[in-house]
Amino acid sequence: MKIIANKDIDDDLLQRMIKIEHEVFGDQSEDIVTYRHVHDKRDGGLFCLVDDDGTPIGFADAIFLSDEQKKEYLNDGNFRILKNIGPKAGTDNNLYLFGFALKKEYRNTGIVKMFVRSFATWLGELGSQGVKMKYTFSEAWSLDGARFLQAMGMIPIDKSKISADGQGFYYSPDNLAEFTAKVLRK
Ligand SMILES: CC(C)(COP(=O)(O)OP(=O)(O)OC[C@H]1O[C@@H](n2cnc3c(N)ncnc32)[C@H](O)[C@@H]1OP(=O)(O)O)[C@@H](O)C(=O)NCCC(=O)NCCS
Repeated sequence: MKIIANKDIDDDLLQRMIKIEHEVFGDQSEDIVTYRHVHDKRDGGLFCLVDDDGTPIGFADAIFLSDEQKKEYLNDGNFRILKNIGPKAGTDNNLYLFGFALKKEYRNTGIVKMFVRSFATWLGELGSQGVKMKYTFSEAWSLDGARFLQAMGMIPIDKSKISADGQGFYYSPDNLAEFTAKVLRK
């Protein structure tokens, strides 16, 4: 089992990740949404977990948004406008955790922690390169999603808009600083 990330993800692997995305999210997902456009430059955080035969079993991705995209998305929830603009040196970055999913048979096994570690490592490296976030957020589309975000210390942007099963927008008050430090300490 290993994680392949960012520029090491070739087009073939990308296609296979898209298949998992369709398998997990069904009609909600479109090729254009999570991968082809948002990760054209592969300079967001794109992670694929593969088994020992090299078969993808899950993916996670995070992208950088402009202030306009962030505002529009939080206003109307239209994820089709989300495109990765890449990281910038300095503090003017909005990070959006886009998608994360494991094939069903691998859930609740603790494997997700491999994503978590890769993600924290990537965030730590960005920080060392002088890329800091001014806002870090996500949208939970499911109870699993809400659990995943809360495990990173993310909280609802507006509690009154979170559905009974946890769906809605979440953000990280400290831009995942505590989460990153904790994971990297382990
Ligand atoms: C979201 C998903 C990848 C999470 O994987 P999972 O295997 O179900 O994760 P679990 O909630 O069982 O967590 C397993 C362990 O990892 C930890 N963990 C999970 N997410 C974490 C996170 N973001 N940060 C730190 N730890 C985390 C949990 O605390 C748990 O630890 P424990 O065993 O010590 O209690 C998975 O449920 C999934 O693919 N769901 C379907 C797709 C989906 O709905 N995606 C979200 C869209 S918004």
